[in-house]
Amino acid sequence: MRYITIALSKGRLAKKALKMFEQVGITCDEMKDEQTRKLIFVNEELKFKFFLAKPSDVPTYVEYGAADIGIVGKDTLLEEGRKLYEVLDLKTGSCRMCVCGPDAAREKLKHHELIRVASKYPNIAKDYFYNKKHQTVEIIKLNGSVELAPIVGLAEVIVDIVETGATLRENGLEVLEEVCPLSARMVVNQVSMKMENERISQLISDLRRILKEQPDKM
Ligand code: PRP
Repeated sequence: MRYITIALSKGRLAKKALKMFEQVGITCDEMKDEQTRKLIFVNEELKFKFFLAKPSDVPTYVEYGAADIGIVGKDTLLEEGRKLYEVLDLKTGSCRMCVCGPDAAREKLKHHELIRVASKYPNIAKDYFYNKKHQTVEIIKLNGSVELAPIVGLAEVIVDIVETGATLRENGLEVLEEVCPLSARMVVNQVSMKMENERISQLISDLRRILKEQPDKM
């Protein structure tokens, strides 16, 4: 039996995903050691390997088959646009991708003015404005703290993740339009899905079962 390799998005999502794998009997205790500098963790008995990667790299590892399975946010999947199968909504990390800005930007959006849009997700922003809204905008890529952009005058609006809405509120910004809902997803390499169909399908159905049994525990 060969190893099945799972790429997890570093951070909160990895911890939640590990808990879910534990619940279906796939444990990996050495991964819980927060001090470790190891990059790859193995469950020899069940022949599973886990590694942690930067979220935006997870779809890349899966598309190329370096990982058979990935756990990653829908935001990253939409932004990266990789060729892979999205097989399960893990219903965790739920939030929304939104167009946000000061109230004054509402009119500019409404009248399809040529505005500047700052985002960590330029592809999502482009798809939303060009393909869904048919509005020409200038998109500016940022790497974080995107809420700054409308405050300091870099852009009229941002396209960003809203979870509790606290960051927006504390900075005098609001949700102006909703782009799409987001949550964590399980993705599978297209060849792995065929070659390791039995084990991967079993894993999907086990995870689906625990999600059904305890939908709010995740
Ligand atoms: C994300 C997102 C918002 C914030 C939303 O940022 O980009 O800034 O969380 O959460 P809230 O609605 O609960 O306030 P993250 O913390 O990932 O850091 P970043 O700004 O560097 O992207």
